[in-house]
Amino acid sequence: MNDLLHLRAKTGLRGTITVPGDKSISHRALMFGALAEGTTRILGILPGEDCLSTAQCLRQMGVGITAFSEPEVLVTGVGLGGLREPQEVLDSGNSGTTLRLMLGVTSSQPELYVTWTGDDSLRRRPMGRVVQPLQQMGARIWGRQGGKFAPLAVQGTALKPIHYVSPVASAQVKSAILLAGLLADGETLVSEPHTSRDHTERMLSAFGCPVAVVGSTVAVQGPARLTAQTVVVPGDISSAVFWLVAASITPESDLMLLNVGLNPTRTGALEVLGAMGADIEMVNPREVCGEPVGDLRVRSAQLHATTIDGALIPRLIDEIPILAVAATQATGTTVVRDAQELRVKESDRLWAVANQLGALGADISERPDGLEITGGRRLTGVQVQSLGDHRMAMSLAVASLVCTGELILEGAECAAVSYPGFYETLRNLAPE
Ligand code: S3P
Repeated sequence: MNDLLHLRAKTGLRGTITVPGDKSISHRALMFGALAEGTTRILGILPGEDCLSTAQCLRQMGVGITAFSEPEVLVTGVGLGGLREPQEVLDSGNSGTTLRLMLGVTSSQPELYVTWTGDDSLRRRPMGRVVQPLQQMGARIWGRQGGKFAPLAVQGTALKPIHYVSPVASAQVKSAILLAGLLADGETLVSEPHTSRDHTERMLSAFGCPVAVVGSTVAVQGPARLTAQTVVVPGDISSAVFWLVAASITPESDLMLLNVGLNPTRTGALEVLGAMGADIEMVNPREVCGEPVGDLRVRSAQLHATTIDGALIPRLIDEIPILAVAATQATGTTVVRDAQELRVKESDRLWAVANQLGALGADISERPDGLEITGGRRLTGVQVQSLGDHRMAMSLAVASLVCTGELILEGAECAAVSYPGFYETLRNLAPE
């Protein structure tokens, strides 16, 4: 499929939106529920394609998971070490989180042989970053280019604990090793250069497996046991940021976003938008299932440039494409640095953002580790491409709100990876 979507500028985005469930938390709720003893209830799960991939792979290893269409999803846990050997190749689709975290889970399960694959994008993404530390733990993993790329074959075996000092701040790397460590005998530690999202740490504790955290080092003690829980998934801040930027740059807008996850390891984009002069108010802050949550009111504002770098990067890693759209509407030059990780996401997002926003007429250039964007140029609607990347698709759709003429978006459908119903919400916010 390669849908062409025709989009035009709007004014006055108004209304109340509940963004879909957090993708990272939804994946983990499924996986931890599968590895726990008892039945886990998940409320507010993201019915996105990535999470469906996780559920499907777990089902193929003998985990009972009810339909996502029901108000609550039930996961019948098999206990750590209880996964059944699948009869077929497991397909992670577009989902890096599925593949990387499940490599950690499956490599530590003796008796289990699994072959993992994914779509074209995922088979191009680096897996050596988890395979190599897992191999240090004794994992038996084979794959293309010495285990750097999927398809990957895993022969589960007993692992030994390690202290891994990761060269990248990556929650997927950290989580893969911690999950492998749950079955290793002793303490498994992961240190990272900056703290990445900590949903794994929070949810492991909630499932009864204590996690020690000192600075940017986390540790689990194996062998562990997980006990089934009820997980209430908050709205995904990475999805909410599309609306925060949309309302900020579209005149006469006033939106209320309900039930947004506000975990401090994820709120970098809120800080950046605040520094850019966005009018965002947090209402009713609360805690739900160990995760901070709140409602966000956003109104149109004149934005100004900022610098995004250093420890902020892992706290807004998925939001850089949409923050780049905001920067095209800001006064001054916004600089993004230290963001080379974007080159190995669902697309090379530095290249993709520079090219696609450049095609709309933005003053934007690509740096080896970032972007430089000077705001103020009027964007012109032309045909642009998602490049099969969900966050590119939605960022370009938001850019259409301020384009002269019609923006034609090719490959719009991939938004369903993380945000089913995105375009419908966009249409409903400001009817033509
Ligand atoms: C995720 C971690 C991040 C993020 C991805 C989801 C997770 O990836 O980009 O969308 O759920 O752990 P990295 O760990 O590779 O930075």
